Amino acid sequence: MNDDLLTRESLLAFADRRREGFEWELRNLVEMPTVSADARRRDEMWRCAEYARDMFFRYGFEGEILETGGNPIVLGRMGRDPELPTVTVYNHLDVQPADEPGWATDPFRMVIAGDCFKGRGTTDDKGPAITAFYGAIAAREAGVPLNIQFIWEMEEEIGSPSFQNAMERHLGKLATDLVVVSDTIWVTRGKPSTPAGLRGLMGFVLSLETAEHDLHSGLVGGVARNPLTELMKVVTTLLDGETGRVLVPGFYKNAEKPTREEMEGWLNSGFDVAVFKRDHALKSLRTEDPLKVMKRIWGRPTMEVHGVVGGYTGPGIKTAIPPRAEVKMSCRLVPGMAAHETFERIQAFVAKHFPDVIVREDHGLAPFRGHVTGTCAEAVKDAYRFAFGAPCAFTREGGSIGAVKIMEDMLGAPVYFLGLSLPSHGYHAPNENYDWEQASGGMALFARFFESASQIGELRQAESKAQTL
Ligand code: BES
Ligand code: MN
Ligand code: MN
Repeated sequence: MNDDLLTRESLLAFADRRREGFEWELRNLVEMPTVSADARRRDEMWRCAEYARDMFFRYGFEGEILETGGNPIVLGRMGRDPELPTVTVYNHLDVQPADEPGWATDPFRMVIAGDCFKGRGTTDDKGPAITAFYGAIAAREAGVPLNIQFIWEMEEEIGSPSFQNAMERHLGKLATDLVVVSDTIWVTRGKPSTPAGLRGLMGFVLSLETAEHDLHSGLVGGVARNPLTELMKVVTTLLDGETGRVLVPGFYKNAEKPTREEMEGWLNSGFDVAVFKRDHALKSLRTEDPLKVMKRIWGRPTMEVHGVVGGYTGPGIKTAIPPRAEVKMSCRLVPGMAAHETFERIQAFVAKHFPDVIVREDHGLAPFRGHVTGTCAEAVKDAYRFAFGAPCAFTREGGSIGAVKIMEDMLGAPVYFLGLSLPSHGYHAPNENYDWEQASGGMALFARFFESASQIGELRQAESKAQTL
């Protein structure tokens, strides 16, 4: 191992030398519109998977496409020495739709403005994927004794419906000692954080039909039932729109409260309500108290309305009574809560009070509790301080990544997070972006983490034990 190549200066010089290549790969990935929610993009998914697989070959590594029954998974490998421990890096190459009206440029053309890369998927999660890839190249060039393997999923943004099945099918080739996920955000620029947990998700749809077709409100209005109005009542019976408090009995029962130590860590994380508001372009909040804000986004479950389908939304007035309506909703879940059980509570409550409203369950994601102590957690902290010159806080993530719990359970290896995105990068928002400061620092972050991981005695022992069995 050549330590001279692993100093911060050498790694940042490596990043600068490789910048053109990084931008080229990122551009090619961003310009493939891999919107997993859109079934018409299936060919694009395969095209992107082939591109990513070939990328591993172009750089002298191995790549493979794993069939999942849904969109494929790309498996990349740098090294396969059975004597050495293996670290797996997880990212996703699918992206959110980009039809929001606020885009200033074409979301599927990568625009480089100085150090900023704009386009759908630049920060979630193609930029971090290519950053980790280059960080691994730096580690390999320095001779870090470690096998590095990449799992690039293409169904993350739709809740990873095929992931469990794919892990079962390909388990034999996925053995690993440790998993690192790079798909999370910092508190703000200059304030790295790594989640000690993720929220889970349970999506559901309310629907009601009261007639066969649209009706004239002058003819039947007053006696006809209006499904839109009734569903609004169902929603306000489920939750208080002003405070966000969920009114379904037992909803909070199994939700584990954040511990005192955890909350102390949050208070020292550098979180600032004004910065949070600015980064996310929020105009007003339900509370401005910092600890309450952090508890609400990281440590408590929620229920939200995402969309209402039905009725007339065209120009002018149309005095129709809609025959049917739908409300798309979801709950974020915290450790202790189970997706299906939460659904059953909601369904039973709706059935009792609104017997002809149908509640349909979507695919759920389990919440995840991470690891904050031990050699790997120390290696995460060390890598952030090394690469960005700032301490990293253990916070939690309010978002969900379906693959995380599945990987920990199925691969039997602990999952850690080396996220690089910033709130101001605009996850899922118009004008999503990523930047060179996060990318170049991120290459140093990953290289340093790989170096530490290769030195962790337990990982080596685990591997040699596996060999002698
Ligand atoms: N990268 C995010 C997860 C995330 C969100 C991490 C917020 C940190 C903060 C991931 O790509 C994502 O958006 N997940 C979705 C999953 C859903 C669509 C099934 C989410 O959390 O809504
Ligand atoms: Mn993501
Ligand atoms: Mn996302």
